[in-house]
Amino acid sequence: MGKGYYISKNLCLLGIILTAVALATIISLSVVYDKEKARNQGKPEAMGSTTMPTQPTTASIPKEPWEHYRLRDSLAPISYNVTLWPRLEPNRDGLYIFTGHSAVVFTCVKETDLIIIHSNKLNLTKFQDHLAKLSGLDGATAPSIQKSWLVVKTEYLVLQLNGRLATGRSYVLYTEFQGELADDLEGFYRSEYIEDGVKKIVATSQMQATYARKAFPCFDEPAMKAVFNISIIHDPGMVALSNSRDSGQSLHRVHLNTTFEPTERMSTYLLAFIVSDFTYIQSAQHNNVLVRIWARRKAIDQGQGDYSLNVTGPILKFYERYYNTTYPLSKSDQIALPDFNAGAMENWGLVTYREAALLYDPLISSTGNKETVVSIIAHELAHMWFGNLVTLRWWNDLWLNEGFASYVEYLGADHAEPSWNIKEQIILYEVHKVFAVDALASSHPLSRQEEEVNDPAQISEMFNTISYSKADTDGWPVFLTSSSPQSYLNTFAFSNTVHTDLWDHLQQVIANTPGLALPHTVHDIMSRWTLQMGFPIVTIDTRTGIITQKHFLLDPESVVDRPSQFNYTWFVPIKWMKRGVEQEQYWLLRNTDVHNPMRASGEDWVLANTNVSGYFRVNYDPDNWERVLNLLNTNHQAIPVINRAQIMDDAFNLARAKVINTTMALRTTKYLFNETDYIPWESALKNFNYYILMFDRTEVYGALQAYLKKQIRPLFEHFRILTANWTKVPARHNDQYNVINAVWGACSMGVEGCRELTKGWFRQWMENPGHNPIHPNLKSTVYCNVIAAGGVEEWDFAWRMFKNATVAAEASRLRSAMACAKAPWLLNRYLEYTLDPTKIRRQDVISTIQSVAGNVVGMPLAWDFVRAKWSYLFQQYGKGSFSFSNLISGITRRFSTEFELQQLKKFKEDNVHVGFGSATLPLEQAIEKTTANIKWVTENKAHVLKWFTEEST
Ligand SMILES: *[C@@H]1O[C@H](CO)[C@@H](O)[C@H](O)[C@H]1NC(C)=O
Ligand SMILES: *[C@@H]1O[C@H](CO)[C@@H](O)[C@H](O)[C@H]1NC(C)=O
Ligand SMILES: *[C@@H]1O[C@H](CO)[C@@H](O)[C@H](O)[C@H]1NC(C)=O
Ligand SMILES: *[C@@H]1O[C@H](CO)[C@@H](O)[C@H](O)[C@H]1NC(C)=O
Ligand SMILES: *[C@@H]1O[C@H](CO)[C@@H](O)[C@H](O)[C@H]1NC(C)=O
Ligand SMILES: [Zn+2]
Repeated sequence: MGKGYYISKNLCLLGIILTAVALATIISLSVVYDKEKARNQGKPEAMGSTTMPTQPTTASIPKEPWEHYRLRDSLAPISYNVTLWPRLEPNRDGLYIFTGHSAVVFTCVKETDLIIIHSNKLNLTKFQDHLAKLSGLDGATAPSIQKSWLVVKTEYLVLQLNGRLATGRSYVLYTEFQGELADDLEGFYRSEYIEDGVKKIVATSQMQATYARKAFPCFDEPAMKAVFNISIIHDPGMVALSNSRDSGQSLHRVHLNTTFEPTERMSTYLLAFIVSDFTYIQSAQHNNVLVRIWARRKAIDQGQGDYSLNVTGPILKFYERYYNTTYPLSKSDQIALPDFNAGAMENWGLVTYREAALLYDPLISSTGNKETVVSIIAHELAHMWFGNLVTLRWWNDLWLNEGFASYVEYLGADHAEPSWNIKEQIILYEVHKVFAVDALASSHPLSRQEEEVNDPAQISEMFNTISYSKADTDGWPVFLTSSSPQSYLNTFAFSNTVHTDLWDHLQQVIANTPGLALPHTVHDIMSRWTLQMGFPIVTIDTRTGIITQKHFLLDPESVVDRPSQFNYTWFVPIKWMKRGVEQEQYWLLRNTDVHNPMRASGEDWVLANTNVSGYFRVNYDPDNWERVLNLLNTNHQAIPVINRAQIMDDAFNLARAKVINTTMALRTTKYLFNETDYIPWESALKNFNYYILMFDRTEVYGALQAYLKKQIRPLFEHFRILTANWTKVPARHNDQYNVINAVWGACSMGVEGCRELTKGWFRQWMENPGHNPIHPNLKSTVYCNVIAAGGVEEWDFAWRMFKNATVAAEASRLRSAMACAKAPWLLNRYLEYTLDPTKIRRQDVISTIQSVAGNVVGMPLAWDFVRAKWSYLFQQYGKGSFSFSNLISGITRRFSTEFELQQLKKFKEDNVHVGFGSATLPLEQAIEKTTANIKWVTENKAHVLKWFTEEST
């Protein structure tokens, strides 16, 4: 996109894309999901009382090696031969099982008489009383086994030997096992769906982070890379898939034994095994790479895989150029599964997706669905190199793996859909999102010590706020790169790294790039952003040229009890403009500095953080604020579109933090009746959303609605004309999104004609269910509005359509829309449906409850429901479910009274014995946010009411 993305023309000429946003983005992307935290000093009880195992204190360091969650470094796996046989029919006891055997070849690196290998929930066959067989390779003699046992807590199989394994020698450990093919979405599991009235079973897998050990005994840590020779036994009518191409089939009695080529050296968490009767489409091969999209037969026959296939080839080619490394495998399979926990999983060579993330139906899916598909594909394929070829050594560095992929995803998606300006959205979907969580005192630094992350619960917490729905990027500050993955990837291919290895390689690139100088090393600059939490607010006083930075905290009274070795100062690269002219980038390296060019008077407005290339917020002296506001009201196009969004977002957040007053923030929205662009509108609506949440149960809401109605009416009119009275789809991608805002806003704020319009469309559909006249882009909004305004008739119709939906995206829209109802009995009935997997799939339970909580009427009902069912919900979804961590934050978003705060605290106390799992941090944050909301509402209610009342007339 615009020039703001480039630091210097020189570099562009060199073909090196050093983007400022990259770092900002990678950082915020990383922050997003890593806000777990080993709660810091001073609050030891916060986690100790939950089921989350805590770091052992010195007093309780486990004595035995098998009591430690981390493997020792005495053994290193080389290769595995694994055969798995999933049974897609229940056995006599009604249990779905799989059987298998595995031989792992490993080398002894340090002499030992103990073999410790992961194994979880597997019933191991005994050989002469022992759970495994051990033999030596290449003439080595294996000591006999003295005893063998399983350790449930640390998920190990342990063998005590009668003698020592010799350093440098290799051995084979053979196991046979039986496990349950449960519907728990973890390890080797089963997914069920109905096709043509027939129930079908798929055996599939999800190994990240610690579930490979549930499929076969293995050294289940990312640095324990090995070569895997997989074979899968299945019925002849089914097809088996794994990470590599199949290399042949043999008969195993009446079954087929499909064998796969040896994998590359890889981590266990990237393995995948699938048996299904799915079918596929494939594209012309390029460089002998086989590219296929797999899904249910119906979906493929209806062409729902075509779009994915269309974009996969170009994205792979783009990454080969971007990483300057050919695609590391001989095939790329992507498969859409009816039951899947996350959005997608980057298994090497066999990426798994939930259906809505891979399938696209031109007639039924919306533009937003299409963008989701291309973004998630781009994200997962980015991992084929960054993450899979080169893998971070341990989960503490997960943030870099996800942050990087989440950034690169925008580049890949932009390449596939160049007219969409996808990169502009980074600020909306990533940077703003991260700003929101990273401005809390309970945030924590991105980078954690390896020792702080040990057991599976801590590992799964590392994923906690990752929003896989939209992809996650880190919003780092700065100047980063994209040219350099090359040397990093080449150096570390098929092995593991720590995050500083990347900084070192970036440093080399910079050293080799004439004309590119940084004020400090990459390592030093990045340390400021990764080793301390949060980000700065930069204040520019244009009267004096004085620039200051300070740790930005949303709640000015919150206390940061986490010390920082850098005292919360950052090295901040500031891109800025004066009176519309881009100025030379300036580095703020101290708390306070003077930069005379930033002095301004008269008409000379100053705007900093152009195109939001840095990860910080900006404040100005009052005179410059007035100049910027004046410009917005008179000639808003003079300000880059991303910054129009940013000015509002900064102002609203500065007001929340009491840096500027609330009226000033509200004034940044007065120009909106002239605004037609998507990004500023989206930013404004997101910020107003906070006001809506705080006030939609109070008398302020009427005035707020009147103001928004006044501002949005021209937008609704604009699109009515642009779409020829709602008969055409706007050509520009962002306009297609903004139509949705216009209709949503107009209908919710009561702009004349809107509700009649949406209701008319829905009525037509109800009269002729085989023909839905609503454009896919507008369906979510229309369904929600009509169901909110309607009654049981509309709701039941939506339920029928939901049950009959053959496209996942349509089902998921209807599922959200049904939560928009206003009748409590409808909402309660809907909540009850989440307890019945034949009504609401397990993968959708948490998000359904959250949707109900998003509705002003549903919120208290969902809160009651969750409190009543907490132990059930926790038991079912608390471990390792990505969405679970959002449950509490979703329900408590409106909390703003003392009474609600007490309820929340009581909920925490009452459920200490049950635990909170990945919702532990969100619960802490919910308490913090509720406290802040109470204060904010108390302080602002009166003048917000006054302002809206005055401005809405
Ligand atoms: C693994 O399988 C390969 C091919 O079938 C075979 O040559 C090799 O000996 C097996 N290794 C072990 C340790 O069983
Ligand atoms: C494993 O063994 C236990 C105890 O015998 C049994 O209850 C369980 O069903 C077995 N699991 C499988 C998958 O066979
Ligand atoms: C399946 O084939 C592979 C490779 O030929 C072999 O190692 C494995 O033992 C076979 N599995 C069974 C159960 O026959
Ligand atoms: C996929 O590409 C083909 C060929 O360019 C095109 O005709 C088709 O419309 C595309 N399908 C989708 C869903 O984009
Ligand atoms: C890597 O870059 C070199 C030099 O520009 C080029 O010749 C080579 O083809 C590139 N390799 C890949 C896989 O893109
Ligand atoms: Zn990822």
